Amino acid sequence: MANDHIDLTVEPGEVHALLGENGAGKSTLMNQLYGLLQPDEGEILVDGEARTFRSPRDAIAAGIGMVHQHFMLVPVFTVAENIALGSERTRLGFLDRRRARREVLEVSERYGLPCDPDALVENLPVGAQQRVEIVKALTRDVDLLILDEPTAVLTPQETEELLTVMRGLCAAGKSIVFITHKLKEVKAIADRITVIRRGQTVGTATPDTPEDELAALMVGRAVSLEVAKEPAEPGREVLSITGLVVDDDRGVRAVDGVDLTVRAGEVLGIAGVQGNGQTELVEAVMGLRPVRTGSIQVDNEDLTAMSTKQILRSGVGYVPEDRSLDGVVKEFTVAENLVLDQYDREPYGNALRLDSAAVGTKARELVDEFDIRASSTGTAVGTLSGGNQQKVVVAREMSRPLRLFIASQPTRGVDVGSIEFIHGRIVRERDVGTAVLVVSSELDEVVGLADRIAVMYRGKVLAIVPPDTPRDKLGLLMAGITGDAPAAPVFEAGDSPASADEGTE
Ligand SMILES: Nc1ncnc2c1ncn2[C@@H]1O[C@H](COP(=O)(O)OP(=O)(O)OP(=O)(O)O)[C@@H](O)[C@H]1O
Ligand SMILES: [Mg+2]
Repeated sequence: MANDHIDLTVEPGEVHALLGENGAGKSTLMNQLYGLLQPDEGEILVDGEARTFRSPRDAIAAGIGMVHQHFMLVPVFTVAENIALGSERTRLGFLDRRRARREVLEVSERYGLPCDPDALVENLPVGAQQRVEIVKALTRDVDLLILDEPTAVLTPQETEELLTVMRGLCAAGKSIVFITHKLKEVKAIADRITVIRRGQTVGTATPDTPEDELAALMVGRAVSLEVAKEPAEPGREVLSITGLVVDDDRGVRAVDGVDLTVRAGEVLGIAGVQGNGQTELVEAVMGLRPVRTGSIQVDNEDLTAMSTKQILRSGVGYVPEDRSLDGVVKEFTVAENLVLDQYDREPYGNALRLDSAAVGTKARELVDEFDIRASSTGTAVGTLSGGNQQKVVVAREMSRPLRLFIASQPTRGVDVGSIEFIHGRIVRERDVGTAVLVVSSELDEVVGLADRIAVMYRGKVLAIVPPDTPRDKLGLLMAGITGDAPAAPVFEAGDSPASADEGTE
């Protein structure tokens, strides 16, 4: 049972935050309001009138719009085509493109959501895709907008912009149900808060409730929001990157001469505004993206000549930033996903067969250890809640002996209780002598985990600084401003940004 007698009331013009741990039933509840799922029991009333939604079409007609946790856009369509999809208006039997474009521009202007109607969705950064989803919902003229974890993939700047847009929508009388795992955002924008746990409403709160109280209400126990760790004891150089140059998908220089080392027993955090080459850097290390020039070595072994599979097998763990794309096979079971990297090796199988008993045993162990909430290890990963899918990826990648662990956005979409757990595991991995590289757009996460922080800007490492560097200085570095007299000791400095004229934004 995903929802067990939940009551929820949303008033006009309010932001109603819906909080709850991974798998609590938030998306399931919203999918019923949007007509994607039908409740077995209970009622949905709009303006006091009981309604039955057989499909999203009915929900939209009743003034309800939804932006889903995982994007539902068609990558090869333009923005205007995506927005028209589902309510296409035709002229002489053809899609009325002019009208679709006009609608996009109108809505994007009215709500201050910049959106190019002719851009192909696959070429847009995630923040822009998120805007397209919102514009799409708004063209349907909704009174209630459901935003299911809209900020999970956004940079802090994009999140700020989204919060501003949300305030504008509420001022215009619209209501918003806002789902997020980031308590700061809840406190910044919510008018009221409802918390659900294991399918039941466990309480309501106001935005002035302290973060730790909200966290405790969500997961049912006290949660430490800080990373607990001892000083690092770095050993040998495990990962060494020299003179690395990598291009992005469009052939634009994304990593522009990076030198980095990660030692055994330390966490190197990479901070930076998303789109400054972090993704391409990590993909190059993992053999997922060609290296133009430069070298990548792990324990003096050249990775650039190896396939991704060989790299994983050589003792490198990898949590990709986009779990749906690179982390799981949705149609495969939880158990199968947990051995995706080892299915053809003893004890799980060989070139001919899979030993489902061994796979099952391993899966049950990991599900237990990482608190993955699934009805069984035999269910398809695609039916798990978003945060639980993330836990499957992290569990798999941390379940074999590692020399190097690379985690990109390791806690994306994960609830506060599981963040505490995953952070603890990352620190433990460091403490047994693994070299750890963490990339995150959450500055708190980088600062909390890292022993050294490399700031990336326009494809270069601008500086490497200690984690106690003042936040405002880190912020300036992330904006490409180095300053003349650094307040904190700088271990190593890269090139000045003045020479970087072809970075990616
Ligand atoms: N189609 C389905 N088949 C089987 N189980 C499902 C299905 N849809 C949802 N569930 C289960 O219902 C529970 C609630 O999931 P839901 O996606 O609503 O959680 P959530 O609160 O949105 O979590 P998250 O914060 O991780 O997104 C989960 O245990 C999930 O596995
Ligand atoms: Mg969800």
